[in-house]
Amino acid sequence: MAGLCLSLTEATIEENLRLIKKNKPFVDLCELRIDYLKEEEHGALPLFPEQAGLPVILTLRGRDQGGLFEGDGRDFDRICTRALRGNYSYVDIDSTLDAPETENLCGKRGITIIRSVHDFTGIPENCGELLRRLPKHSGEIPKIACMIATTADLFRLRRIGAESGHSRQIIIGMGDFGIPTRLLPDRFGSMLSYSTAGTAAAAPGHLPPEKMTNLFRFREIDPETKLFGIIGNPVLHSKSPEIHNPGLKAAGLNAVYIPFPVDDPELFFTRIRDLGGRGFSITVPHKVRTAGTLARRDKAVDAIGSCNTAVWNDRDREWIGYNTDAAGFYGPLKGYADVHGRKIQGAAVIGAGGAARAVVYALRQAEIETCVVNRTEENAEKLAAEFGIPWAGLNGEGKELVHRYSDLIVQTTSVGMTPDTEGDPWPDFRFSGDELVYECIYTPKYTTFLSRAKESGCDVITGDRMLRCQAEEQFILFTGKRLNT
Ligand code: ATR
Repeated sequence: MAGLCLSLTEATIEENLRLIKKNKPFVDLCELRIDYLKEEEHGALPLFPEQAGLPVILTLRGRDQGGLFEGDGRDFDRICTRALRGNYSYVDIDSTLDAPETENLCGKRGITIIRSVHDFTGIPENCGELLRRLPKHSGEIPKIACMIATTADLFRLRRIGAESGHSRQIIIGMGDFGIPTRLLPDRFGSMLSYSTAGTAAAAPGHLPPEKMTNLFRFREIDPETKLFGIIGNPVLHSKSPEIHNPGLKAAGLNAVYIPFPVDDPELFFTRIRDLGGRGFSITVPHKVRTAGTLARRDKAVDAIGSCNTAVWNDRDREWIGYNTDAAGFYGPLKGYADVHGRKIQGAAVIGAGGAARAVVYALRQAEIETCVVNRTEENAEKLAAEFGIPWAGLNGEGKELVHRYSDLIVQTTSVGMTPDTEGDPWPDFRFSGDELVYECIYTPKYTTFLSRAKESGCDVITGDRMLRCQAEEQFILFTGKRLNT
């Protein structure tokens, strides 16, 4: 199983040792980035491995490779050969650097050389060949870290790793699109993943080791681990991993749920089976596109025109698309109505985008009289026509319409979402205080709109309830079990 390395980028040995102490339970080894260390700390380098109590990689990364070291091979040799009086396990040497004394010493002392290439612009043209030829001597570990910016890059990097012929190698995709390579190194042919806990991330995309271990189950992943996740762009802010991973763990499943920034969902669904992908949540901006591309879909996907879940069907060897947004919206509403003994007869939906479609569909399925009001009247009219319901703009006519359908008001626009939390989709709308108001935004939990409703005396349902409920539905589709956390 791949190891987890803590990259140490603090300016003093003391500060780095403090980070080790805090993160020891989560990592297998550490990398001392001496290009980040103050020069006056260099005298203490030989003692560091004993103090660390973990295998240590000694790294002095040059400027052209993303580090802070400005010297040449001779400076490198001078600093490293002094440090190597200590008991270091590995030395990372940039492939562009000539460091004969360090290499010699490593040979004599049995210290493993990591021969590395970093490319912050993308995957080098000849990356496969570069990786194959990287080790200068037998026993060296080749390391390639390159920036990846597309779904195609992610799978290309995987192929390069799979075809290198090396039994030990380190393959890393930097940047947001490379996050899966950091969370699933084994599946990208890499023996190691790096993380940072200190103030400066040692490379783009580093995650804290505690998060990798506790949330993303890094140390529990093996070849049998079932892979689930969420695709979107951007997607790293998603709260879904915090719902699904504890659920998978509580259900005793050998499975993990990770974020995949994706720009090409068709390619993703074609290739992710190679990594063992079994089920994915789909978020902005891929829900509509995926609804149109998966051959098999449930009826909610067709009715809403949007797919937020795809599950691999082993028997038929194909992806099946589902939409759990509608059920996720309806669950908390039904819960509220049951508890409060309140019958919802009329509902007004603010907004006419993708979220509104799922909400209108769910309300009509539940036979609740529904109307839609929206800033752009054509969009309201279009959505209303599909479902045969009344519509209006966000104006006087809209207010009258809403008052006639106002057992429930559902806010489906993105106005008021973090970071623009001041936003209010309909600032001059006044609540009577009798409406039940349901907000689809979950960050913040109380938007300006929902807070106004609450202050007017309305009962409210917050967006986190909908998020949770749609995830519960997904969890059942993914695992056949109930989400129990
Ligand atoms: P989603 O798929 O998340 O619902 P969307 O399709 O972009 O997102 O829909 C956004 C909805 O928010 C639309 O109804 C949009 O109104 P328009 O049809 O007039 O664009 C609504 N919206 C966006 N910004 C708004 C604003 N400042 N005030 C009111 N409504 C707004």
